[in-house]
Amino acid sequence: MADYTIKVRRFQPESGEGPYWEEFNVDLDPSLAVLDGLLQAKDRDDGSLAVRCSCRAAICGSCGMKINGQSGLGCKTQIGEAQELANKKASVAGERTENAPIVIEPMGNMPVIKDLITDMESTHWTKIRRVTPWLLPHGDPPEREYVVEPESMIDITQSMACIQCGACVSSCLSMEADPDFIGPAALAKAYRFVGDPRDAETAERLHDLAEDPHGIYDCTHCFSCIDACPKGVAPMDQIMRLRRRAGEEGIEDPNAGHAHEMAFVKVIEKKGLLDEALLVQESYAPGVKGKLKPSKRGLTETIKSLPTILRPLRKRKVKLRQAIPGLHHGLPKDEMNDVKSIYKHAEEHNEEFNLYIKGEEGELAEEDVEKGIERSTEPAGQEADNGQ
Ligand code: SF4
Ligand code: SF4
Ligand code: FES
Repeated sequence: MADYTIKVRRFQPESGEGPYWEEFNVDLDPSLAVLDGLLQAKDRDDGSLAVRCSCRAAICGSCGMKINGQSGLGCKTQIGEAQELANKKASVAGERTENAPIVIEPMGNMPVIKDLITDMESTHWTKIRRVTPWLLPHGDPPEREYVVEPESMIDITQSMACIQCGACVSSCLSMEADPDFIGPAALAKAYRFVGDPRDAETAERLHDLAEDPHGIYDCTHCFSCIDACPKGVAPMDQIMRLRRRAGEEGIEDPNAGHAHEMAFVKVIEKKGLLDEALLVQESYAPGVKGKLKPSKRGLTETIKSLPTILRPLRKRKVKLRQAIPGLHHGLPKDEMNDVKSIYKHAEEHNEEFNLYIKGEEGELAEEDVEKGIERSTEPAGQEADNGQ
């Protein structure tokens, strides 16, 4: 057993007062959860402390909250680990480094109903319903169940693991700036149906999510939802998959994000080094190396980018020839051969590496080991866990 101080942001609407902080002392084994600490405080000190929970096993998704500023599940966060993080934060802030209070707040981006209980309906569930979270098959239903190949479902298994806890929504930076953003949980749910072979309205779904100004292109790629998700759903990855599918469907990306992604691939393939000027050209007006093949939009966007191009020129951070598409030097021929072999390998293994299904990053396929190909051993923070 160890003693901990939990500092809870409280809000009791019936009191007519605004939110306030209250500290409780709890004694628990460090391996127990922050939620156990809250329940102990509720039991011993103040029965009015409001917290939502049910399974206490990271399954029901009820106990989303912020712990030391990070969104997650109260029942999945060990209090000993929360203490270490609280101490680290206090030390960075120049405060005490031992037994710093563990700060617990309600989830962000949602109205607070009472203490740690947030209104999931007004944000989370409304947005989930926004993406039509059910199958839309065409034709008459089969006499019995739909039969699909298990392999065709692999792509969506990761998004199916969502327990609707809202932790990703709570941590989403785009949603802070734009509360109308459909958001990580709902877009991950959308991919669950876009990727389902039984659904017959894939194109309509993609157009809908791409053309909505608060849709898939509103995500700023900040990774917060990946860090927050307790089930390894990696919502940002599902949003990137939606963007990729939209690009394949020929849907124009208002931010030219898909074209920008493809431009990176093409420029490195051609030169081995990043030619920033060529990157701008290729992103908005794809053409052949060094030759602008202007489209109306390409010209407009390139002209709009001129201040961005001119700023580093003025500050002499880049030379004039680096600002002209195609003039930036590339890698020598022998080194380009290495780049080409990487591209060849990627093309021959044209398969998305889905850690959720295929195990931990760092595990090498036998054929890769034979070819001496290395892969990073850094874990991606995703669990090989099927959730529910
Ligand atoms: S990656 Fe996108 S969806 Fe995820 S938290 Fe950041 S802005 Fe939100
Ligand atoms: S995607 Fe992850 S964090 Fe978001 S609601 Fe689902 S389980 Fe929770
Ligand atoms: S109580 Fe069910 S997920 Fe925490």
